Amino acid sequence: MKKTIMDLDLEGKKVIIRCDFNVPLKDGRIVDDTRIVESLDTIRYALDRQAKVILMSHLGRVKEAADLQKNSLTPVAIRLSELLRRPIAFINRTRSEKLKETIQNMKNGDIILIENTRFEDLDGKKESSNDEELATYWASLGDVFINDAFGTIHRAHASNVGIASKLPNAIGFLVEKELSALQKLENPERPYMVILGGSKVSDKIGVIKNLVEKADKLLIGGGMTFTFLKAKGFDIGKSILDSENIDFCKEMLEKYGEKIVLPIDFQAAVDTNESTPSHVVKVGEIPAEELGLDIGPESIQLFESTLENAKIVVWNGPLGMYEIDKYSVGTEQILKYVTDHNIETILGGGDIVAAASKLGYKDKVTHASTGGGATLEYLEGKELPGLAAIEEK
Ligand code: 3PG
Repeated sequence: MKKTIMDLDLEGKKVIIRCDFNVPLKDGRIVDDTRIVESLDTIRYALDRQAKVILMSHLGRVKEAADLQKNSLTPVAIRLSELLRRPIAFINRTRSEKLKETIQNMKNGDIILIENTRFEDLDGKKESSNDEELATYWASLGDVFINDAFGTIHRAHASNVGIASKLPNAIGFLVEKELSALQKLENPERPYMVILGGSKVSDKIGVIKNLVEKADKLLIGGGMTFTFLKAKGFDIGKSILDSENIDFCKEMLEKYGEKIVLPIDFQAAVDTNESTPSHVVKVGEIPAEELGLDIGPESIQLFESTLENAKIVVWNGPLGMYEIDKYSVGTEQILKYVTDHNIETILGGGDIVAAASKLGYKDKVTHASTGGGATLEYLEGKELPGLAAIEEK
């Protein structure tokens, strides 16, 4: 078991907490502050224990100088300060004399936020490649390191793996919560169902391979359905096709055909515009000039009856183009079904969590992960470098 923040003495210590404040921004405003809200328990715990709290995070990807302004953590500092109801000193550099001085002058219970760690990527990808000298510098700012950035735990960055290798360390409450939800899948109550959606099979190959043997059923929806249907020889019209993975789908259907549940009808239209009329078509009957955009009513019934006795469901990727209301019905109905029937449901981050949030189900499911890529890699069975770097109890 990994050490947690509760295993460390924090009083009077300079505690570096790596958070994942990589929140969606539009015109400089935060569109969804979930990741900030989810980091509050750990931050408050450290503040209550009279630590000197030093927060770090990345935001977006920084490739050129023009990315600096749009990827500043300034809006995060403002939102965090509102949520904590206290001032936060924001240091608009990733290293500087002012940063060192500010930290030297911190009193117990003070809190600062350092600018986007990926600003260091402008200089030879130092953050993303876990540059030794950068990790040493950042580690020199603190006494203790807490990794609470679940969304970034699949990355080996200087600000997570690098600092952890140089300071006493532990995970925070958010990482602990995310792991305990996912660990339920190691010895799941049965029937154990996996729902996979999203557009490309290529994004989910690792997950399919790792979970198809463990799960009792694998329900497939979203754009990736059509590559499976093509593999079965059905006409799919203009629906999205991941042609490089037709053979992979064929292989999965041959080996695990009884476990894989595919939709049997769709909402289809000639394009993806909201105002274009759509209609229900059966599998194999999608007209040549149309594309499938959501699962249809018979598929919803099929999915519901498949899930009838389910004890636990893990779900990654929406079942239709949920951004458009009329194509969010399949995703919404299945979210309604699992929550109405108290089926333990873990949403694996990214688009399915955004869909559940839009449709009002995020707070009704058992767990909605804050990590998209991180959860996928966990479900693929890969080692998570940010976690591997943390000490065992
Ligand atoms: C995420 O949003 O998945 C994490 O914050 C990681 O971001 P990245 O994919 O840019 O590394």
